[in-house]
Amino acid sequence: METPDSNPSPGARETQAFPEGVKRLEAGALVPDWVTRLDRTAFGAAWKHPAEHEALWLLPEVAFARWACIPAAGEAELLRIAVDPAHRGGGLGRILLEACQRELAEEGMLRLYLEVRASNAAAIRLYGACGWERCGLRPGYYPDGEDAALYQRMS
Ligand SMILES: CC(C)(COP(=O)(O)OP(=O)(O)OC[C@H]1O[C@@H](n2cnc3c(N)ncnc32)[C@H](O)[C@@H]1OP(=O)(O)O)[C@@H](O)C(=O)NCCC(=O)NCCS
Repeated sequence: METPDSNPSPGARETQAFPEGVKRLEAGALVPDWVTRLDRTAFGAAWKHPAEHEALWLLPEVAFARWACIPAAGEAELLRIAVDPAHRGGGLGRILLEACQRELAEEGMLRLYLEVRASNAAAIRLYGACGWERCGLRPGYYPDGEDAALYQRMS
């Protein structure tokens, strides 16, 4: 596989680094089994079938990002993003997240939000690289008592 750094533009990166490119799961389509498996691997439990207001973007077999969308408010929340462990650190998380951000902006969702475990250095680095800014903290938010850091991105 090409490394993303060897390609000059984001579009070329997307095509060459991953031949199938980023895809959006069609409304009503079944969540592929590999997404469920990766969900369990990354988070310990898989989420249910997407609700009507949710959207899923995929790098087939390797990564997914799940969003809750509120088009009328121009907002969306990143619920989960995961890259297969064997493919982490190769720039795929960034390719996927940037593709989601572009499509959401095209659909008028310019204000993006997320929460993340304060200790999740890889995710926090990814969000920083993709233009997100820290905007708050929810102390003891997670069941194990860990804080959630809040991030936002305005296009
Ligand atoms: C977070 C995650 C999606 C990142 O995906 P990835 O493909 O490994 O990320 P990339 O290779 O695109 O790297 C993006 C940035 O994060 C940095 N990064 C990646 N892994 C890192 C790590 N383990 N520690 C520190 N920084 C890391 C990269 O250096 C890069 O930053 P840069 O552009 O400033 O150099 C992936 O680690 C993952 O699936 N984690 C488990 C699920 C999870 O925690 N999701 C987030 C909460 S919903």
